[in-house]
Amino acid sequence: MPRYLAPGLGLVILTAIPSLAMAQASTEDLVRQGAYIARAADCMACHTNPGGKSYGGGYVISSPLGDIIATNISPSRQYGIGNWTETQFSRAVREGIAPEGHLYPAMPYTAYSGISDADIHALYLYFTKGTKPVDLPPERHTALPFPFNQRWLMAGWNLLYSTGKPMSAATTAAGGTQRGEYLVKVLAHCSTCHTPRNIGMSEDQSRFLAGADLGGWHAPNLTSDAISGLGGWSDDELKSYLRDGAAHGKSQAAGGMAEAVEHSLRHLNDADLDAIVRYLRTVKPVRNPNQSRPGFSVTTGKPVDLAVLDAPINRSPDALANASSINGAELYTGACASCHQLNGQGTHDQFYPSLTSNTAVGGPTAQNLVMAILKGVNRATNNGTVTMPAFEKQLNDAQVASVANYVLQRFGNDAIHVNAADVTLLKEGGAKPFLVRYAQIAAIGGVSIMAVLVFVILMIIRRKKRNSSKK
Ligand code: HEC
Ligand code: HEC
Ligand code: HEC
Repeated sequence: MPRYLAPGLGLVILTAIPSLAMAQASTEDLVRQGAYIARAADCMACHTNPGGKSYGGGYVISSPLGDIIATNISPSRQYGIGNWTETQFSRAVREGIAPEGHLYPAMPYTAYSGISDADIHALYLYFTKGTKPVDLPPERHTALPFPFNQRWLMAGWNLLYSTGKPMSAATTAAGGTQRGEYLVKVLAHCSTCHTPRNIGMSEDQSRFLAGADLGGWHAPNLTSDAISGLGGWSDDELKSYLRDGAAHGKSQAAGGMAEAVEHSLRHLNDADLDAIVRYLRTVKPVRNPNQSRPGFSVTTGKPVDLAVLDAPINRSPDALANASSINGAELYTGACASCHQLNGQGTHDQFYPSLTSNTAVGGPTAQNLVMAILKGVNRATNNGTVTMPAFEKQLNDAQVASVANYVLQRFGNDAIHVNAADVTLLKEGGAKPFLVRYAQIAAIGGVSIMAVLVFVILMIIRRKKRNSSKK
């Protein structure tokens, strides 16, 4: 090699090394960006079975239609998405169409349809290069009853309801003007739980974030309304609820919200949490007509009846197991007062929270009170784990109703009364929506009735849509 070439070659190598390093760093950066987007979008909550391998699937989502099993989305070539192209990945995540057919909207693609092109690219790199393959066959497959096992029916549903378009990266990237909206509507998909659904089981956008039921729990109203929504919460309270799952004197996160906090929201940076809070302030207020004061506004409980304390009752937790007592006061002193205190004020540090000034007890529905008693609270936070025991095995439904009524009477919304049948219904996941109840009846009658029913519903919806667009 001629001598004069050597320094030139050296120069080329010297300049090539940093640019190579830069190319590598930028893939790494993208994988890191994808990891953060996956957190914000909470892919983990559904695609990882508790105790199982990350993104190995198997988690069961109980929908009103039956159990839907989240799939393996690790880069396993045999069982996951290791062979998928970026286009296939993007269509599955944003449009609900996997190579093998339509997905059910239990996979929140209606929200993810807004994911920007830049973020879907980063997500793809993260799922193909930043996670470990889980080479395990699925334990269970989704098998919904007819007619819902006809996945192609989703194509019609998508035509009507899945109309989102990717948002622009320019406004939704960190620090962008639409970052908060992007987090709430798209990535963190708050509305899939907090927006009520219409007759066709799609989110009712006229009541965006106005509160909805899911699996027995109630995801409360998050609009800016001062009585039914978050108008009475300070920015700090809202931020600490999202980050820690608890805002003293307001509310605690259990059920699906505990999962959202544990797997997703507590990992977000401060700027993103602030952006969510700022955006929520702008959401159109929706008032619940049956509500005249905020759920946290009952600040002092009614005094305890001293006769209850003096009565010769057995307050030990063991006594509950024999299921003899249905006296609410007795049950409360035995099962709840050790943590929430006799007067319901909780402990000083609010590690055991007050039941007064608590939306689960003072709000327009007792669902979260009943569900918390049945299922308990279990949430990993950035400072340790928060647990309240589940009482569904210790108390029968009549006892749960009775202790709930006692708590409502003394510490919260004394206009509500629950009975054992209400508790049983919530245990089974709550009331079923219209489409499910009727489509199943239709299925028994035959496909034709089903087809007519779906057609009629679609026509009603189309007319409604046309009418509302004429206005
Ligand atoms: C609320 C629960 C939930 C969340 C959150 C969720 N998924 Fe899913 N996902 C599902 C379910 C359930 C399925 C299977 C649906 C079906 O069988 O129709 C699924 C299916 C998929 C599929 C298709 C897999 C296949 O083998 O066909 C992909 C890809 C996917 N999800 C990626 C993601 C990504 C990426 C995220 C985060 C951005 C995410 N999911 C968040 C529930 C969820
Ligand atoms: C998987 C369903 C789900 C998702 C996703 C979800 N939530 Fe929730 N949320 C709930 C449920 C259920 C509750 C009631 C929890 C309880 O009382 O134990 C709740 C409670 C809340 C509360 C307390 C309200 C009150 O009046 O007590 C706030 C605030 C909240 N969520 C905000 C959000 C925001 C913001 C997002 C998106 C960033 C979000 N949630 C996403 C299900 C969800
Ligand atoms: C061992 C202590 C303990 C006992 C016993 C206990 N709780 Fe709790 N409770 C907690 C903790 C801890 C939380 C959640 C605190 C947090 O999230 O920061 C909680 C939360 C709650 C909430 C709010 C739940 C929500 O989803 O919004 C209600 C309501 C409640 N408890 C009622 C009761 C009732 C009624 C009983 C008796 C049947 C009871 N608790 C027994 C510790 C306890």
